[in-house]
Amino acid sequence: MRDVKVLLDRDFAIGETDRRLFGAFVEHLGRCVYDGIYEPGHPTADEKGFRRDVLDLVRELAPTIMRYPGGNFVSGYNWEDGVGPVEQRPRRLELAWKSTEPNTFGTNEFVDWCRLAGIEPMLAVNLGTRGPDEARRLVEYCNFPSGTQLSDLRRQHGWEEPHGIKFWCLGNEMDGPWQMGSKTAHEYGRIAAEAAKLMRLTDPTIELAACGSSGRTMPTFGEWERVVLEHTFDHVEWISLHTYLNDYAGDTPALLGSPDLMDSFIEEVVAIADAVSAGRRSDKRIMLSFDEWNVWYRTRRGNTRLKPGWPVAPHILEEDYDMKDALAFGGCCISLLNHADRVRAACLAQLVNAIAPIMTETGGPAWKQTIFFPFADFSNLGRGRVLRTHIDSPTYTANYYDPRGKTDLWFPLPEVPYLKLSAVHGEGGTLTLFALNRHLSEELPLEVLAKGFPGLSVERATTLRDDDLAAVNTSASPERIKPVPLAGVGVDGERIRATLPPASWNVLRLKG
Ligand code: AHR
Repeated sequence: MRDVKVLLDRDFAIGETDRRLFGAFVEHLGRCVYDGIYEPGHPTADEKGFRRDVLDLVRELAPTIMRYPGGNFVSGYNWEDGVGPVEQRPRRLELAWKSTEPNTFGTNEFVDWCRLAGIEPMLAVNLGTRGPDEARRLVEYCNFPSGTQLSDLRRQHGWEEPHGIKFWCLGNEMDGPWQMGSKTAHEYGRIAAEAAKLMRLTDPTIELAACGSSGRTMPTFGEWERVVLEHTFDHVEWISLHTYLNDYAGDTPALLGSPDLMDSFIEEVVAIADAVSAGRRSDKRIMLSFDEWNVWYRTRRGNTRLKPGWPVAPHILEEDYDMKDALAFGGCCISLLNHADRVRAACLAQLVNAIAPIMTETGGPAWKQTIFFPFADFSNLGRGRVLRTHIDSPTYTANYYDPRGKTDLWFPLPEVPYLKLSAVHGEGGTLTLFALNRHLSEELPLEVLAKGFPGLSVERATTLRDDDLAAVNTSASPERIKPVPLAGVGVDGERIRATLPPASWNVLRLKG
């Protein structure tokens, strides 16, 4: 392949990454909570039942904010079931994932786990089967210091200090017909606005996110955002986006091109939010919370998705991520970084076992899936000023398949650059390049002219690749896929040269 050139300048930035861009998601789904982060009786469990082996991996993964408790789960959840003496908590039919919910883990346990992991909690309220009143009562239970029935109930339950939860999601995927209590945009917009009002009256310091579309393929996408924001504009700071990339078609070039559709999705939502703002002559800017994103297809559809018999913590959505999934996943990280000015929060869905970077065996080991590595790079090394880049790369064409219900939808990708890249100017003068080579068989000769970065030296250069794009990590072979040093990275003044292996995720960390 011919040289692929990138031009950037230290003075020209897209924006500063928000700490919350590097979040993840814990839902009461399958074995994410039970036998995932929480497994009393596990050899590594602490006195609260939190798996220490999982906590160690979470610290390495370094998510900054954690969304909880759903997801589809939250739309049928009574938060009151998950607080108070554990032996008095009800077991309930959980309709979203056809499981039995034992409620032995709830809001307070989640907050304790977050504090231990050094992560900010993000809570979603149920606007499916419940409404504004239950939502404001949860805010009072969590955040009011003392002297009212609900705040004193929290103290009586053993949490003397308020949790101080700042980020609240107004329901989940309320546009989706599968959602318990799904709504039209007008119905949801009104309820979200009223819930937001009551929640903020209870605690004026909170931030609120309205539900955007549960995907760009939804028939209501666009109009949903507009109508919801017309109702909620004065009451929310955020609108959410969700995307799960897939490879149903078994077309790797299309899968690797599909993160570019995330770029379009983000830009479209920004345009709609700003149009609502312009209609009001307002300088308020609604920020984007990409609070569910991942690659997900093997365990998404079909009758094996759920287990019969209403089990507790069933093995569902336990997607085994392979090498090519990790590449597409890395592409998503780059899309998020390159929109750091407006995507100020994002959550990888999810954290453990259910479509997750971390897998566990019940009573056994925990290990890293392939997608663990791009996320850890993104979160640990992606903090700072994301720089504008001009990329001159050869392109390819692809046709990405993303079914909706029984409808086949095809998204033409007429010009996918083989190189997808983001550049971050971090603390201490570092320059980090996240670079995805989407060519399946050819090396990519990369030349970056980094203006304003004289005298760079290479601090770290790694690549994640494998000859077998279907290779996975397993409990028996947990390190089959992991980053290895990338040889031959050269720096000459402001010029960086590297050869990126075919089908690879690469991280070049330079110091000025
Ligand atoms: O993350 C899995 C599910 O995907 C979530 O529960 C739901 O919000 C989305 O459809």
